Amino acid sequence: MKICAFSDVQRQKKPLSLSHNIFLIMETIDWGSLGFGYVKTDYNVRSYFRDGKWGDLEVHTEETITLPMAATCLHYGQEAFEGLKAFRGKDGKIRLFRPEENAKRMKATADYVCMQCPDEDFYLAAVKKVVELNAKYVPPYGTGASLYIRPLLIGTGAQVGVHPSSEYLFMIFVTPVGPYYKDGFKPIDVIVDRLHDRAAPRGTGHIKVGGNYAASMESSAWGHDHGYNIVLYLDAKEKKYIDECGAANFFAVRDNTYITPNSHSILPSITNKSLQVIAADLGMKVEARPVAFDEMVTFEEAGACGTAAVITPINKIVDIDHETVYTIAKNGQPGPNTVRLYQQLVGIQNGDLPDTHDWNLIIG
Ligand code: PLP
Ligand code: COI
Repeated sequence: MKICAFSDVQRQKKPLSLSHNIFLIMETIDWGSLGFGYVKTDYNVRSYFRDGKWGDLEVHTEETITLPMAATCLHYGQEAFEGLKAFRGKDGKIRLFRPEENAKRMKATADYVCMQCPDEDFYLAAVKKVVELNAKYVPPYGTGASLYIRPLLIGTGAQVGVHPSSEYLFMIFVTPVGPYYKDGFKPIDVIVDRLHDRAAPRGTGHIKVGGNYAASMESSAWGHDHGYNIVLYLDAKEKKYIDECGAANFFAVRDNTYITPNSHSILPSITNKSLQVIAADLGMKVEARPVAFDEMVTFEEAGACGTAAVITPINKIVDIDHETVYTIAKNGQPGPNTVRLYQQLVGIQNGDLPDTHDWNLIIG
């Protein structure tokens, strides 16, 4: 892969030394108080698909992109995105958690909405490059913060007919983040949403297109209006099975078994997939299957899991339509299995525990 240094990069003032730069960043960012927001970083990387092929990876400093007003991403939702994180270990090294899984999922999304997608090697090289370029924004070990990596793929060709674009932009930006839900690992209350469907039974819930998130916004606002940060979606057809929790998968624990929904309308979470392996490593049974909402009353522990959510333990599930509250956490505390799963996951990601499944891609 060839990397082009763009003129805007070259025009920059003489860069400060890396150690000086890190010092300045450490002074200005309060890593421990970071929320899940957008903080500008120095570089993003881009590649354009034109004339039937992907161009070289370009390094950019500007935060804006220029698009034809008739671009297919703007009108017909030809858009795929991903989310993964980089962590700084005690040893100073930067670890990317399972980036090849995100590459595969972006390809699956792109295929479904008929977009071109860079191959896995190109994707991984681009992720590494953008993290290396912004290394000073990878939060220090022990702050609980991480560098969120956001790959984006959009149809950029100008047309008004509904058919796939012949031109695409693949780009990645990064931003340092703290917890998605402000209380981090503290159990939170969840409301069941029976009014809105996030994804249709044979729709796009299993891929990561922006339209799914647009479809969840009214639901999310409805949840907030009722005082809840997460809504729980049930299957759209029968409202009988558990689907997922906002922008995270759902899992529960009962009788030393990790139970998680298997549904076409939920995103195949890389965190959930990893937790299933960790649960088995910890001696738990694992069940990925349709999970009836009626089972809620039997769960000893439950949580929402995802890159942004990590593990967010669930305190109560509130079903206002049936005037029922399922209290899951004991005394508002995360259960013992949830704690073990969390410690193992975060321990591997930070490099504190052995990476026995070879999940981390280490940089530097
Ligand atoms: N479900 C939805 C709808 C999501 O947006 C996400 C976040 O990516 C997840 C689940 C969790 O997936 P992952 O663990 O791969 O981040
Ligand atoms: C993630 O967990 O990476 C997500 O994509 C969730 C969200 C911020 C959309």
